[in-house]
Amino acid sequence: MRTILVLNGPNLGRLGSREPDVYGSADLDDLRLFLIRSAPEGVEIDLRQTDDEAELIHWLHAAVDQRAPVILNPAAFTHYSYALRDAASLVTKSGLPLVEVHISNPHARETFRHTSVVSAIATGVIAGFGFDSYRLALDYVASQP
Ligand code: DQA
Repeated sequence: MRTILVLNGPNLGRLGSREPDVYGSADLDDLRLFLIRSAPEGVEIDLRQTDDEAELIHWLHAAVDQRAPVILNPAAFTHYSYALRDAASLVTKSGLPLVEVHISNPHARETFRHTSVVSAIATGVIAGFGFDSYRLALDYVASQP
């Protein structure tokens, strides 16, 4: 069984009630179920969310140690957290895929969302497709040896 980490940053625990016009009305449990159903056989989804930058960084360190590929929605940390970027960079520099995902399309929103400090070190970026952003990332990550 191969485990793929699906890590979510601040305020994504409020999915379902948070700005449903932007993020939809499904919550994190719906996302977990959707990804479990979308995952090919032999792939386990370990989906987590935290509002805590340090916790997210520790999870990325653990991904390196456990050799686990990562799908990461850094949420607002995307736009300013160099600490998160450095931790994410440890993942890709260790040869593991890390796909940055966003439910919305940050480039179609406020100017501060147009900058990602994570994208340059990510394996790839998928944004603007709702929960399908995660599914597309899963398709890629699961297809990697
Ligand atoms: C987000 C986009 C970010 O700008 C925002 O801060 C989020 C969610 C998305 O999934 O669309 O919290 O990462």
